[in-house]
Amino acid sequence: MKAVCFGAAGGGIRLYDEICRKYEVVAFTDNDTKKWGRDCCGIHVFSPEYCLRHIEYDHVIITSAPGLENIKKQCINMGVEENRIITSYIEAPLESRIEFLKCFAQIYCDKTQGNVAEAGVFEGDFAKEINRFFPDRKLHLFDTFSGFDKKDIQKEGKMSNAAVGDYGNTSVESVMSKMPFPEKCIVHKGYFPDTAIGNQVEQETFCFVNLDMDLYEPTYQGLRFFSKRMERNGIILIHDYFAENFEGPRQAVSCFLEENRQNLYLFPIGDGISVAICGF
Ligand SMILES: C[S@@+](CC[C@H](N)C(=O)[O-])C[C@H]1O[C@@H](n2cnc3c(N)ncnc32)[C@H](O)[C@@H]1O
Repeated sequence: MKAVCFGAAGGGIRLYDEICRKYEVVAFTDNDTKKWGRDCCGIHVFSPEYCLRHIEYDHVIITSAPGLENIKKQCINMGVEENRIITSYIEAPLESRIEFLKCFAQIYCDKTQGNVAEAGVFEGDFAKEINRFFPDRKLHLFDTFSGFDKKDIQKEGKMSNAAVGDYGNTSVESVMSKMPFPEKCIVHKGYFPDTAIGNQVEQETFCFVNLDMDLYEPTYQGLRFFSKRMERNGIILIHDYFAENFEGPRQAVSCFLEENRQNLYLFPIGDGISVAICGF
């Protein structure tokens, strides 16, 4: 069976071998215009407009967790029948991440004080779950809303193939429209950690933080900033810790743990990609 993979970034690269066990991948597509005309896993990346209308396929497999819902809607709007869109490759890890969040919120919410935060929001698909499971806590949302910053990319070296501006196609408005309790959300638009330093958020404490900025430098800075402000039994979740195509988060965690010899420990949460830092 022929498949088009929608998402030529981390998820696409990570899932490619698994997808190839069942499908012949005939093309990649992505909303990021910078990826058009390039290769992903040796397969050409087309624009969605061209790919979904001119390439012959049996299924469109969504291989991007960020923006999953919008991508699905986009495919349907472009005439792809719903039963030809496959989301299971990307949904299984997302569901276990959401399940982890739900369990943590149910078990610890009554016992742990503090607010919640996500650094690396993109389209807000995980942020809305944090907001849903912590309806009474302030949710701080940090993102450039213009994608990866030049300063961080310069420090990446060989840790990833990330490029300046990747994940830039989002907006504060679209993120906020998804939030079940928008009155609890505080958006910090701009470069992290600059948006956090000298801000009221420095005076707050946290019970749950999701660091999902993909790159070494902001992940390391996120660990430095939030670890000092974690409540007892709080958790920092690191996305992409096990990602082969983004080595930065793992290296940032190991650097941070080496420098901060507290009794912190790592707890893989079962989605195959994230790790929780516990022991605060
Ligand atoms: C993979 S996306 C986040 C996905 C999102 N958590 C989700 O669940 O869909 C990574 C995000 O981190 C943001 N980011 C990376 N480095 C940053 C920095 N130094 N400051 C602010 N945002 C940053 C990017 O702009 C991008 O939106």
